[in-house]
Amino acid sequence: MHLRTQPRQAAALTVGVLALVFLAACSGQYPNSTFNPTTEFNRESTSLWNTLLGWGTIVFIIVEAILIYTIWKYRRRPGVPVEADPKMLHGNTTLEIVWTVLPALILAIIAVPTVRAIFRTQAAAPANALKVDVIGHQWWWEFKYPDYNITTANELYLPIGRPVAFSLRTVDVIHSFWIPQLGGKRDVVSNRTNYLWFTPDSAEYTVYNGSCNEYCGASHANMRFRVFTVPAENFEQWAAHQRTPAMIQAPAAAPAGGTPAPNTPATATAQPNAAANQPPAAPPPTPAVGSYVFPRDRVPAYAIPATPLPPDVSFPENLVGDIERGRAKYSSSACIACHKIEGNPMSVGVTGPSLTHVGSRLTIGAGLFPNDPRHMALWIKNARKMKPLQFSSMPTLGKGEYDPVMKTVINVGGLTDQEIADIVAYLQALK
Ligand code: CUA
Repeated sequence: MHLRTQPRQAAALTVGVLALVFLAACSGQYPNSTFNPTTEFNRESTSLWNTLLGWGTIVFIIVEAILIYTIWKYRRRPGVPVEADPKMLHGNTTLEIVWTVLPALILAIIAVPTVRAIFRTQAAAPANALKVDVIGHQWWWEFKYPDYNITTANELYLPIGRPVAFSLRTVDVIHSFWIPQLGGKRDVVSNRTNYLWFTPDSAEYTVYNGSCNEYCGASHANMRFRVFTVPAENFEQWAAHQRTPAMIQAPAAAPAGGTPAPNTPATATAQPNAAANQPPAAPPPTPAVGSYVFPRDRVPAYAIPATPLPPDVSFPENLVGDIERGRAKYSSSACIACHKIEGNPMSVGVTGPSLTHVGSRLTIGAGLFPNDPRHMALWIKNARKMKPLQFSSMPTLGKGEYDPVMKTVINVGGLTDQEIADIVAYLQALK
């Protein structure tokens, strides 16, 4: 008897050890995990998950115990004729009632915490919540802060500890808004506004990844965003600066040379109302006192895009752009039909992301590439090779470049490398 059960014990031990190994594998650092107690939303869903997993485990153990006991009890024994069939139970009313009622009862019990979690997460947002309008586009995210008169793209700043109430809609197809570490997900649906709120009360001073989670076309997987959870005072500084018109923050004065450290919050004195469109000779204005951008040295590695570049895009390494030439070229190019830059009266398009403070953003291309001059130049030159796009999206702008959507080489209206470098210098200066 004991000898016979040993292989089974060994099998059970193996399964147990494997299960432990799998569980241990879940304890690592997973930056896109939902099991994060950063908001009441995530605590609610994590608690529901743990409850249901616990109950499911109990049901599993009972069912498996009955199964194993039955297999063992009715196994073939020496001396018992093989042809003797076990007793048939077809039509046993008691048994059939039991195995119908029991699962129904279990489902009814599971419904209690589930429905409670649904009601809690669907409740009206607190009155003091920060309002954020989320608008899905193929393929990028537009964010508006109506109380602050801010429009931005693909980057959300949220104050730690204050409830945030999202109102979600789309201008085209269905998308789905999700920041796994904070809460969601919620569909972004045509002809209907959905709502979602949570409080990043236990969020760290860090960056979280967000993404689209409903298939929405060729670049569904390239529709990402970043969420910067920052102390309340930093959020107010950021918001105060974002609502001002674009201001050119020129590279540091001559002796310093080079480009300004992108991670340094600009603190120079300024005239916030001095817009970018001054006479070229005027000294460029600088951002307002106390303006805030999330410090680059705090950005965790998982939030920095590492999307590989396609092999057939390139841009000359040493080309130096000129901000003023770039502003002039930008203001007379096709860019202005789709992009808005507050403070540049020529740039009033609304179908593309607002570029008012694009130089202060961490990423471009809806979170696909880091926001640096090289990637921005490559993007302007060949966006449609860097990310599957469509007829109405960011076009190929490099002169002589092949446009995979139009299936043609761009000549008329195309930008030379020098013109692109100039426009990049201008856009990168819009801090
Ligand atoms: Cu938007 Cu998937």
